[in-house]
Amino acid sequence: MPRITIQDILKKKDEGVKITMLTAYDFPFAQIVDEAGIDCILVGDSLGMVVQGLDNTLPVTMDEMIYHTKMVTRAVKNAMVIGDMPFMSYQAGPEEAVRNAGRFLKEAGASAIKLEGGGEVTDQIKAMTRSDIPVMAHIGLTPQSVHRMGGYKVQGKTGEAAKRLIDEAHRVEDAGAFAVLIEAVPMDLAETITGELTVPTIGIGAGPHCDGQVLVLHDVIGLFDRFVPRFVKRYANLKTEAIGAIGRYREEVLNGSFPSEKESFR
Ligand code: KIV
Repeated sequence: MPRITIQDILKKKDEGVKITMLTAYDFPFAQIVDEAGIDCILVGDSLGMVVQGLDNTLPVTMDEMIYHTKMVTRAVKNAMVIGDMPFMSYQAGPEEAVRNAGRFLKEAGASAIKLEGGGEVTDQIKAMTRSDIPVMAHIGLTPQSVHRMGGYKVQGKTGEAAKRLIDEAHRVEDAGAFAVLIEAVPMDLAETITGELTVPTIGIGAGPHCDGQVLVLHDVIGLFDRFVPRFVKRYANLKTEAIGAIGRYREEVLNGSFPSEKESFR
């Protein structure tokens, strides 16, 4: 199967076929997500929380993102790989944004980048698309704004806030974004935005009417349990499985049943 392209993603919206997206941060998990047939893999800056053990995503650096994206692109055969612009890699202005975004394509082999923000990043989106760097925008709850937002809260709940979000969605589309990720907004608002945009919307905590869905892999497979957002559905509990397996290994080492003859040489 050939690599999924932006044209494939746009076509899915036209044909009413849902777009599937998950995060991955390293070779083995990227291989698993790809083999499961997911359309897009986001190397999210959420790796700060689910891989690095940080309290938020702000300390994640460009070099760390490139390091992880390289591992992911090495593993992936079909999915579109999207690199996530970390905090302060694009906020200072379009020129720095283009240089950093370019690294995802040039050094790490990604096909596109994602960045958080609405009207305040349209110059960056324009500059990137002019440089042939496809951009996925990210509006609603933007985790890099955790301090301004006062926590990870549902956005667009009042009439005025909803209007602002609809306006942001149009502005990032007009600036050239090929898709808009919408995080933690009421489902009716996400439905309105999805109906108004010509580019696909990808929802996380935004209800069922978006053109596609994304979740953080470690939430989906039960590897992250510091907190579980309401919008997460856990499809497996690999942490419990792994603790069980490691516990059995430990027992067998202690009681002498591992290694047996079978695992030994003569
Ligand atoms: O960094 C990330 O994983 C994200 C998700 C919330 C989609 O942006």
